[in-house]
Formats: sequence, C-alpha cells, structure tokens
Amino acid sequence: MGLDLGTSGVKILVTDADGEVVATTTEEYPLYQPEVGWSEQNPAEWWDATVAGIEAVLDDPAVDPGEIEGLGLTGQMHGSVFLDGDHEVLRPAILWNDTRTSEQCAEIEERVGEDRIIELASNPPFEGFTAPKILWVQEHEPEVFERTEKILLPKDFIRLKLTGEFATDVSDASGTLLLNVGERDWSTEILETLDIPRELLPEVYESPKVTGEITDAVSERTGLPAGTPVVAGAGDNAAGAVGSGVVEDGDVWGSIGTSGVIFVATDEERTDPDGRVHTFCHAVPGKWHAMGVMLAAGGAFSWFADTLGGPEEVVADQLGTDTFDVLTDEATTVQPGSEGLIFLPYLNGERTPHRDADARGVFFGLSTRHEKAHIVRSVLEGVTYGLRDSLRIVRDDLGVDTGQLKAAGGGAKSPLWKQIQADIFDAEILTPNVDEGPAYGSALLAGVGAGVYDSVEGATERAVDIVDSVEPNGTHTQVYDEYYEIYESLYPALEDPFAANIQAIESAQDILETND
Ligand code: XUL
Repeated sequence: MGLDLGTSGVKILVTDADGEVVATTTEEYPLYQPEVGWSEQNPAEWWDATVAGIEAVLDDPAVDPGEIEGLGLTGQMHGSVFLDGDHEVLRPAILWNDTRTSEQCAEIEERVGEDRIIELASNPPFEGFTAPKILWVQEHEPEVFERTEKILLPKDFIRLKLTGEFATDVSDASGTLLLNVGERDWSTEILETLDIPRELLPEVYESPKVTGEITDAVSERTGLPAGTPVVAGAGDNAAGAVGSGVVEDGDVWGSIGTSGVIFVATDEERTDPDGRVHTFCHAVPGKWHAMGVMLAAGGAFSWFADTLGGPEEVVADQLGTDTFDVLTDEATTVQPGSEGLIFLPYLNGERTPHRDADARGVFFGLSTRHEKAHIVRSVLEGVTYGLRDSLRIVRDDLGVDTGQLKAAGGGAKSPLWKQIQADIFDAEILTPNVDEGPAYGSALLAGVGAGVYDSVEGATERAVDIVDSVEPNGTHTQVYDEYYEIYESLYPALEDPFAANIQAIESAQDILETND
C-alpha cells in the first residue's frame, strides 16, 4: 500500500508484486490562506481523510487486507506540524508553498553563514523550507514554540497516528534545511546555531527501512491488519521519481503537479554552488538528486480553469470529460508560441531559479488578436518555459545530459502538453506505464521494506516500463527558442516592480481599512 499526503488530498493505492495497481482512492481536504502568502492545512483533516481513504481502498473487492505486506508513506514536503507533549497539534501546519518567512531566511544566512549553510545543508534557505518556519513560530508565536515537543513533516504526522512512532526519511528531511544532506543525518552545527533542540526532531531513516507497525487501535478503526510494517517512505518528488523508474545516475524526471519539478538522480551529491536547484537525498539508499521546483505549474493551469474555465466546465460536463481536456483541445487550435503571448507562471512567488516570494503572474504581449485559446496555450507554454529554466541549470551547470526525460503528473496526461515539453526542452519525452504519482513509488518502497523486492532499483526494474515517447519538432523548437529568450528577460525587468507591487497591496489594505 502506498499513501501520498498531497496538497489537495490524500491518495492511497494498493499494488500487487508485479507493480499492477489493484485499487486506488483519493480523499480531499481544504487549504487555508488566512493572509497573503500564507498557506496552511489542518492535520486533523489530513488524518480524517487518511482513515476514510484506507477504509475505502480496503473495501475494494479486489483487495484482501490480510495480503497487505507493507505501507509506504509519502507526501508534500517541507510542511511543519508542531506537537505538544501529548502529541496534540498546536497550530495549523505551515505548508511548502507558504512564503511568510523571507526575514527568517535572511536571518538563517546571517546566523549560519551564506556559504556555510550551502556546505552543510546543500541548499540555501527558501521560504517554503522547514527551518525558516520554525524560526517564524519561535519569533511570532513564542507561546506555541514553548509548548512544542516535536516538529514533524506532514507524512510523518500520519506515521505517528498509524504507528505511534516518531520517524522521518532522508529525502523528506533534506527539505528541512536541518539535515546534513551529504552525511544523511541531522546537522548538529545548524541545529545548535539556530537554537533548535535535536529532541524536537524525529529519527532519520533510509526510505525503504521499516520504522514501525500499524497499531491495534488503527487496525480496529481502518481494517488494516495490526503489525503491518510501515516504511520510512519519501518526500513526494523522490517517491514520484521512484514510481517512474528514475533511480539511476543521470535519469531525469519532469513532473507537472500543483508544483513543477525537474529532478535528476545522481550517484554522487552534486550541489549547485549558487543554490538555484536543490540537492536532496534520493529515496534510493546512498543516492542523491538535484531538483528545480516551480511553485505553480499544474497549479497555474488549475487556477486558470477555476477562474476562467466556467464555459469549458459546462462543455466537459456535457461530454463527460474534464475541463482540462476541453481547455487543452482549444489550445491546439493556435500555433506554437501563442502569437507572442507569454505567460510568467509566478502566481505565488517563485523558487527555481529566482528565489523570489514577491514575484507574481504576468501575461505579456497581449493584443486584440488573442483569443481565449491563445491564453490557454500560453499558460501551458509559460509553465514549460519555467521548467526549462531548471533544466538549463541541470544541463549547463551540473553537466547532466538531459536528452530524455520521463514525464509525470498532469503534464504527462495531455498529448499537447507533452509535445510542448518535447519542443521547449528539445528532448524526447518518455511516458512510464503507471501514472499514479508518488503514492505508487511509496508502495514500491513498502515492497522493498517488506522483502517483496531486493532493492529499490530491483522494484522499478520489475514494475516500470516506458509506453510512449514524443520527439521534439525541430521547427517548433526553433520558434520556442526565440520566445524563451524573451521569457528569460522578463523576470529581471520586473523584479523591482514585483516587490513594489507587494508593498502597494499591503499599503492599499491599510488605507482601505483605516478609511472604511
Ligand atoms: C518540493 C516542493 C513541492 C512539494 C509539493 O521541494 O516543495 O514539490 O513537495 O508537494
């Protein structure tokens, strides 16, 4: 069984030993944005959805609960759950896409040292990472911090509920900025410098290691047999990469979920000295990965569909298909490059390569010639240009050959978006046989921990195949190369106005509140 505690919901699936998915279910929960830049969830809602999901998947006639060999956990990275001594949640979890911590990031660079933090944690501070969130709570909610006895990543809170154990895995822990990524253990130097007691953190394990078992109480509630082993699991990207067979040095994975990710597996730790792409431990013991992350990728397309896709939703209902398919069908009617309409997908700030919480979305080059189809296509293209930024760093600065890329997520479901990726990346886009996301990779990790497979590489060899390949169209690539140059020039030109705009939003709020 694999369990992915995502941002919009929890996905749970069961596979057989050949990697065939036997049953799958998803339960959703809300996301709260109480202030500009804040992003929070209620861990109790994660847990309720998890229980409902496990019950639902075990109810599937194809599943015999007695045959579940193990459970693997994965989920959204970086989020922080603050618990008191009775394991009660002290405040809403602060998520990976929350950008309230710019000051704390600067503070970490000052206290640990700008170069030293990259030497130790292999990454500079990003707003979404865990350490700046801990500092934010220390500074803004000292009464919460005083009562805090454990800080857990999202999936590790679910582990605590399932097994009663505190544990995490090396890949997810890499996104806390508290792990010495090279040594695959907590960094005493960072913890001491930031006054974060080590006892607040759980033990760290390699991803396929068993960290506990399903308790009697959970067994009674969900029907999962007591004693079922639960493995350490992985952050969602490392698990997703495992699920697509991205486990050998130089394998590249491009995932378009809510966030967008370019991920490359490496045998050695390869750190970008400028800290633009992340360097994390892989879910494969003794391996690492480099990764560029865009905050809004599929999320930008979902935003567009939710805000402006009303008519397409009606059509989708009539045809029994989904709104995204109707929108991408519309986008096929316009030419590559959307006749000069370029979308910057920085809706919630950006991580790779700009590290700027103030950046925002832009439609550039809009004219009266443009119809809705152009706008849709420009969103797909803009997200893909953003991923090309990460790919370029992986190619040029880390020296990885990225002529082939395994695609995952929403971007792997649409033939048009796959062609756009092939053309903009100038790379062959491969589609694996299973597209069940991180939950699938975590089920494979569970299989390794339970002894069904001898290794993570062995598991993927048995379970993962390539079923489709899309080649770049040379003419389109030429067109996109020109537009990409313009795309690249837009962020530097807008960096200052972005910051000024955020200040204007805050001051507008003050003016309106004072005068209304
Ligand atoms: C990775 C990241 C996102 C989340 C999304 O660094 O922040 O991919 O893990 O779930």
